Amino acid sequence: MSDKTDAAQEKLVALLKEGRSFPPSDEFRRQANVSDPEIYDRARQDPEGFWVEEAKRLDWFEGWNKVVEWNVPWVKWFIGGKLNATCNCVDRHVKTSRRTKPAILWEGEPGDQRVLTFEDLQKEVNRFANALKSLGVKKGDRVAIYLGMVPELAIAMLACAKVGAPHSIVFGGFSADSLRERINDAQAKVVITGDGAWRRGNVVPLKANVDEALTGTPSIEKVVVVERVGKVTQVDMQPGRDIWWHDLVANASDQCDAEPMDSEDILYILYTSGTTGKPKGVVHTTGGYLVGTTATHRMIFDIKEDDVYWCTADIGWVTGHSYIIYGPLANGCTTLMYEGSPDYPDRGRFWDIVQKYKVNIFYTAPTAIRAFMRWGTEWPAKYDLSSLRVIGSVGEPINPEAWIWYHQNIGRERCPIVDTWWQTETGMILISPLPGITATKPGSATQPFPGIEAEVLDDRGQPVGPGAGGYLVLTRPWPAMFRTIYGDPDRFVRTYWSRYPSKYFTGDGAKVDEDGYFWLLGRVDDVMNVAGHRISTYEVESALVDHPAVAEAAVIGKTHELKGQGIAGFVTLKEGIDPSDELKNELKQHVVKKIGPIARPDDIFFTAELPKTRSAKIMRRLLRDIAEGRVLGDTTTLADPAVTARLKRQYEEEG
Ligand code: PRX
Repeated sequence: MSDKTDAAQEKLVALLKEGRSFPPSDEFRRQANVSDPEIYDRARQDPEGFWVEEAKRLDWFEGWNKVVEWNVPWVKWFIGGKLNATCNCVDRHVKTSRRTKPAILWEGEPGDQRVLTFEDLQKEVNRFANALKSLGVKKGDRVAIYLGMVPELAIAMLACAKVGAPHSIVFGGFSADSLRERINDAQAKVVITGDGAWRRGNVVPLKANVDEALTGTPSIEKVVVVERVGKVTQVDMQPGRDIWWHDLVANASDQCDAEPMDSEDILYILYTSGTTGKPKGVVHTTGGYLVGTTATHRMIFDIKEDDVYWCTADIGWVTGHSYIIYGPLANGCTTLMYEGSPDYPDRGRFWDIVQKYKVNIFYTAPTAIRAFMRWGTEWPAKYDLSSLRVIGSVGEPINPEAWIWYHQNIGRERCPIVDTWWQTETGMILISPLPGITATKPGSATQPFPGIEAEVLDDRGQPVGPGAGGYLVLTRPWPAMFRTIYGDPDRFVRTYWSRYPSKYFTGDGAKVDEDGYFWLLGRVDDVMNVAGHRISTYEVESALVDHPAVAEAAVIGKTHELKGQGIAGFVTLKEGIDPSDELKNELKQHVVKKIGPIARPDDIFFTAELPKTRSAKIMRRLLRDIAEGRVLGDTTTLADPAVTARLKRQYEEEG
């Protein structure tokens, strides 16, 4: 870092200590989509009216006859309304001057590029929608999608939405076992995949994984395969089951009528980790979801007609669903999709893309920002980032140092930062600055979006005072909220609605300061946040005990400089099995095989015993204290406190 940046950093850190905030500049405020704070009062006084105004910006085949119905926890929005998500994201723009405007700018990893205008996108989507129909896919059938970040992923999603078939996208980094479990839970009829996906010059064998997954998926009838990596990889096509995408669409018509969907018809299912080993199929419906994602996208990112907007997430996660595809495209915005990694071919890749496409809005994750920080300011400094106007963060709490770095080196002290808090379940951003109004504070997601009511409660359900930590809950319904867990309504009620009656329990800790700003403190349950990915400790434990050498395992999230949290596994081996470094590696690899590379443990620690309560529950809290070198917390409920003391000594010695 140069002396100059050091001095600037020191200055800002000093300002931070004074608790200074960063109001929008007059220049930004003057051009902002939303600049009058009265929007908060207006939405508070008449939340239904507020959302109705937003819903009117969409195209509906038939209007709703009631805005919202909330029989806690069951909610419906825009009841009786009929619409189609793809008509809103694509078709309606083709009828306007946006016809020839780029809808998707695609940058491939080996330097490939593709531009799809709204009209191009419409044709591609219609062809594939007709292709899906030719495979027998009808309204309500579930379609699994397991692809890298290629344009066909967006086309497939929008084609599913056009015919009314809920998609279930499985992140390409998940294993065959994870894919099988998700396909079976959703009872998907078709899976769409690729011959492979590029990852830092290597090929992820998507089709081979699908073949392995499909050894136990009776519901799957057809597999559609996108050719992406070509001759580099060998794929086996099973006659009668597997079809190349290009063959399927070759003769398909580019005209296709949209299926009119009820507001409450399912748009998609997306699996996320919970506190048990079984992933939850989060169900999003059509009307409210589209209203919520479109409104938040326009206001929070301050979207203008000619903007180029880039969210760096993978579409396999909710951020990609809501803020690469549905929100941006419904707003008629040009959305950039990037296939590759931030450090391939070099560490300037993201900034090269910002410069090349003159990106105006950039939305990424704290884990990426921390990596950029480590790589050094010289990388962004080489590029022209003057096109940027708003920069965003999502996925985990952003530490103030990373916020400052982002502000200085990417936002060049000019762009407001929107730190956006939300979840797979919430569908849309719920806590975030509005960049033309909110004075930001580094590390705080600031305030609930207009129309959203959040509280921080203690164990007994009482609001905590300013500065005190508690549990974040939401007290009013919002349009894009998930409606249930697919096939498991009891789990939906139990997990989210039982802790505090009539309030949505987020699973996050938070505090509110004297100014009413929210500070997110991370998960309060057994869910880890590893590089912005949600992984349950229980899933990793199940994968570990699945290995024949393992008797018992306890997994915790341990503070990690880059990833936010890393995964540490405490493992007890079966009698007669000797611990070794080879076995550690084998166990890590076993978790990769069972779940996927994102769940690979950083550390495995062999121990003869695990700390347990008298009722035989493993005390992960104490394992976290040990792994992070803290003084042990309350040990009074332990069956044998000596076990923990021994373990702590052993950990420190082997450390
Ligand atoms: O703990 C919160 C964290 O990510 C969790 C949601 O993860 P997921 O469903 O995978 O969705 C991620 C993208 C929306 C939350 O429970 N989280 C997300 N955004 C933030 C955050 N924590 C703090 N600040 C954020 N901006």
